[in-house]
Amino acid sequence: MTKLSLTINGRAYGPVDVRDELSMNDFLREYLGMTGTKFGCGAAQCLSCAVIVDAPDGTSYTSPTCITSAASFDGKTIRTVEGHAKDGELSALQKAFIQHFAFQCGYCTAGFLNEGQVLLERLAKAPVKRADLETTIAEALDGHICRCTGYIKYHEAVGDVILADSKRYLAATR
Ligand code: FES
Ligand code: FES
Repeated sequence: MTKLSLTINGRAYGPVDVRDELSMNDFLREYLGMTGTKFGCGAAQCLSCAVIVDAPDGTSYTSPTCITSAASFDGKTIRTVEGHAKDGELSALQKAFIQHFAFQCGYCTAGFLNEGQVLLERLAKAPVKRADLETTIAEALDGHICRCTGYIKYHEAVGDVILADSKRYLAATR
């Protein structure tokens, strides 16, 4: 058993005793009732289960939760799909996903949303040139599998958010 304490979507949880083999996915879904994080392949291949981890240096990255133990998240700060909306207002990315109808069954959506958010945060710190945007989005979302093949819609939705706030996310070309 391990004592687990962590912060999820700005709220502190624990300490709580968890079995060493308990996955983070099961912890979120079964212990906390946060069912937005999905379980797809169970083999770190599809990233439908990815959550955002906030690193101490201010950067963020996604991590699968299906093969990752809950215990390994002790002391970490993470965000799940449940944390994107603020005060009942969907994030710009969530709105763009809806506008593009960028999901079908929705199974992979939380993972794409989290990855898109990580990309926005990275670009806000290190903007890319407009000419490199398509490649940047493609590389960021690479690794996420959508069994309904909604890749283009996700890509376009992320691109729309970046272009709508280009001063923030894109490097000046002059
Ligand atoms: S369910 Fe975790 S990567 Fe597929
Ligand atoms: S929308 Fe169904 S798996 Fe992506």
